[in-house]
Amino acid sequence: MTPKTFKIKSFGCQMNVYDGERMAELLGQRGMTAAADSEEADLVVLNTCHIREKAADKAYSDVGRLRRDDGSKPLIALAGCVAQAEGAEARRRSPLIDIVVGPQAYHRLPDMIAAAERGGRPVDTDMPSISKFSALPARRRASPSAFLTVQEGCDKFCTYCVVPYTRGAEVSRPWDDILEEGRSLVDAGAREIVLLGQNVNAWKYGRRDLADLIRELASIDRLERIRYTTSHPMDMNDALIQAHADSAKLMPYLHLPVQSGSNRILKAMNRSHTAETYLAIIDLMRAARPDIAISGDFIVGFPGETEEDFEATLNIVNAVRYASAYSFKYSPRPGTPAAAMEDQIPRDIMDDRLQRLQSRIGEHQLAFNRSTIGCDTPVLIERPGRLLGQMIGRSPWLQSVHVETAAPPGEIVDVTLVAAGPNSMTGAARRQVAA
Ligand code: SAH
Ligand code: SF4
Ligand code: F3S
Repeated sequence: MTPKTFKIKSFGCQMNVYDGERMAELLGQRGMTAAADSEEADLVVLNTCHIREKAADKAYSDVGRLRRDDGSKPLIALAGCVAQAEGAEARRRSPLIDIVVGPQAYHRLPDMIAAAERGGRPVDTDMPSISKFSALPARRRASPSAFLTVQEGCDKFCTYCVVPYTRGAEVSRPWDDILEEGRSLVDAGAREIVLLGQNVNAWKYGRRDLADLIRELASIDRLERIRYTTSHPMDMNDALIQAHADSAKLMPYLHLPVQSGSNRILKAMNRSHTAETYLAIIDLMRAARPDIAISGDFIVGFPGETEEDFEATLNIVNAVRYASAYSFKYSPRPGTPAAAMEDQIPRDIMDDRLQRLQSRIGEHQLAFNRSTIGCDTPVLIERPGRLLGQMIGRSPWLQSVHVETAAPPGEIVDVTLVAAGPNSMTGAARRQVAA
């Protein structure tokens, strides 16, 4: 049966969310329509993440759950990083899977669906040098805050991480392609563009770097806000730091993962920065943009991590005063150097460290949110809140702000921040800025 409806479920990072949107557009262009949920869909695409063991295992349990009570099942495509990492092996783990398609090959999904209909079991985990982007339809729909992938892959080879294997080498999209997509997104209603890359600040095109790209995008009239994520400390340059000082549309927010505060662990992780060089970047950023909100990622329980190493991590959290941060227990990943290291840390120690780290981060997050009480700030409205008349939007510092307003998604409302919680703010609308 030719599938007419589809459901795409994306897990993992924003780049997977972006890929999910592009796959939906591609299937839409071929005449398929989006189903409300996987129960009703003829085709289900699981756009998976391989970063930690739990995320990867989830992919297979999700596949199992697609079998319906009457014994039938939709056509199942395994996409994303688990598909890339496991290739044909994925179907040995779960014979329910019909299609295996990697993150660099999904522009070929329609052909693969046709092959599956003919009884084939296509697997495509190529990393072609010709960009998939040129084979995808133009952007016609956009949320108020839209993702735009500008860079893919990673050459850093942190010893714990699968991304260099699942996403391949660092590749930058060409200047013109990005600007064209940026303009289409704005024409389709985006007011904010979030530039994405596994190492977004490694983006380069000839002599142009990310700061140049941000400046050019800022010249698009109806685009109000620009963000970028995720950056690597090694690729932070003066131009990008300076852009935070002089580009009004570049939001005062930087996600700059450090992973650990211990130089010994950073070295074992192959992070190519130290706690000191990281802190020096934060200082320069704050000199350029004093109100900048800093966010980060941490791993606890990397092999060989001692209590002293962990305390160094707590110290760097105190030094940076993160506005938000994500922290994870180290998860050994097949094929990565760290998985074979001695001194793997017992689970109970990891649990204890994660809990201590998260409570420290939580304190700083609340302190940051409290420090913004009383600020008059523009909020980009994104969606309705739970209460009648309430909308949820984002402050420049990426805080989620609840505000009573009649303004629809996509409008920017002037708000006074009146109350702070650990994960969100309450704002009072002042006057409405014309959209
Ligand atoms: N390119 C980005 C993001 C990589 S994945 C960067 O360099 O920071 C997002 C986060 O997942 C990482 O920052 C890291 O904190 C975490 N992570 C990656 N591999 C992991 C592993 N094996 N176990 C636990 N956390 C991991
Ligand atoms: Fe993974 Fe390190 Fe590359 Fe980030 S920089 S994607 S953590 S290898
Ligand atoms: Fe996960 Fe792949 Fe992103 S492993 S974090 S979906 S790059």
